[in-house]
Amino acid sequence: MSCILTMMIIKNEDFEKIALTNIRPAFHRAKPEYNIPYAKEMWDAMKSMPGFSIAEAGDLTKAEPYYAARHNLMDSLAKSTGAVQFLEIAAGWSTRGLTVCKRNEDAVYVELDLPDAAKSKYQAIWRIENGEIPSNLFIHGGNALSYEDFSNATSHFDLMKPVCVITEGLLGYLSMEEKEQITRNIQLLLAEHGGTWVTNDFKSKVKDPNEQARIENYTRKLTGRAQQDFENDDQARRFLARFGMNCEFHSSPELQTDRLRAAYIGFSKDARSTDQTDRR
Ligand SMILES: C[S@@+](CC[C@H](N)C(=O)[O-])C[C@H]1O[C@@H](n2cnc3c(N)ncnc32)[C@H](O)[C@@H]1O
Repeated sequence: MSCILTMMIIKNEDFEKIALTNIRPAFHRAKPEYNIPYAKEMWDAMKSMPGFSIAEAGDLTKAEPYYAARHNLMDSLAKSTGAVQFLEIAAGWSTRGLTVCKRNEDAVYVELDLPDAAKSKYQAIWRIENGEIPSNLFIHGGNALSYEDFSNATSHFDLMKPVCVITEGLLGYLSMEEKEQITRNIQLLLAEHGGTWVTNDFKSKVKDPNEQARIENYTRKLTGRAQQDFENDDQARRFLARFGMNCEFHSSPELQTDRLRAAYIGFSKDARSTDQTDRR
């Protein structure tokens, strides 16, 4: 499926290999010591899907507490927004949506992921919940760069209430032009509703060049794409300022590493964005 935009052609095929990066975080989050709700059930359901191959994720023998700490940091920032409407873009095999919906029936949680990824996520939740998917959890298949797919997914929201947008591990795989496209979609949503974008995707390159090289090799091997982190915080802030957004960085209380920070990105409805070009 493809969708033609004025300035950019969006083809799902160009992004599909990014879905292979779902295996690693889900595998590590499922370990019992992290106690993440439904993480073990999600891993068990996903690994029994047809076509699943653990070999794709590379070496999983090393402990990687990064993924559980990242999940917890994002949870606590999302909670601190006070929002009850959530859009999680590229949710992958995360169990945050299921957890929020089971705890709070007044919440509305929308996940937007590529069609194949969304289909298997739906099947996994169906299996975990014995066929009873919470009625406030919506799993949409679509491309977050496409304004049409984005609008379909966000049609569940009450216009009068703010939205918390979540991205945990997507923008690093996108080119600068693709990052702009997705940010523009988020900007339009937040301009309508108000709210906050909670993400770990505005991290800069890590200071240790060997570690940065390891991350870049992993991404290239798995996805065929170049890892495209921001050079530093100033570059990330300048990028966001063009969309009328400002960000606060937060570190994980559990795990101190320069790779593990998340941003709490505010959008001021009064801000005059310098990047208002409508590229729908
Ligand atoms: C690193 S994984 C996300 C991991 C997940 N957030 C987690 O913490 O486990 C990347 C996800 O991005 C999704 N993705 C890649 N390109 C996308 C796009 N253009 N629109 C929506 N989802 C996309 C992939 O299908 C995959 O599920």
